[in-house]
Amino acid sequence: MSDNKLHEIIRVDHAGEFGAKVIYAGQIAALKLKKDHKTLKIVEHMKAQEDAHFDYFDEQLRKQKIRPTVMQPVWRVGGFALGFITALLDKRAAMACTTAVEEVIDEHYQSQLKSLQNKNEGELKENIEKFRNEELEHRDTGYENHAADLAYFKPLTYFVKATTKFAITISKKI
Ligand SMILES: [Fe+2]
Ligand SMILES: [Fe+2]
Repeated sequence: MSDNKLHEIIRVDHAGEFGAKVIYAGQIAALKLKKDHKTLKIVEHMKAQEDAHFDYFDEQLRKQKIRPTVMQPVWRVGGFALGFITALLDKRAAMACTTAVEEVIDEHYQSQLKSLQNKNEGELKENIEKFRNEELEHRDTGYENHAADLAYFKPLTYFVKATTKFAITISKKI
């Protein structure tokens, strides 16, 4: 794989994991306001895993001198707002946000894994595999916590998936 393509992978994954971090940070802020300690514990666990995912890509970015997406400040505000508003509305909306994001990220990581075939890409591949498995756990956690019982589950899922795909496309390029 060309360096350019590899840098694109690291840049977009860095942006995606950053997005996940700030979405959960928004949810955590709302759940603290609502004093929903049970949901808070669940979300804090997922946030800790996102922090580790982000730290890996952040290290790669710096090591390989790749610039982050210029959209990072936009994702910061948008992601936080999405997490905050959904969690404030209904904990199931927060969970639906997670199921939608993770379903898109699962496909995204799967397609990257297919393209990473070189021996020297093994470490990156292993990490993406590990992260993908954790994203699938997050998706399952969302469904176990009744994401799909939400009255507006379908439109919210549609909105979050479209937004996530849009963010992925943009972050690859700029
Ligand atoms: Fe992640
Ligand atoms: Fe995740």
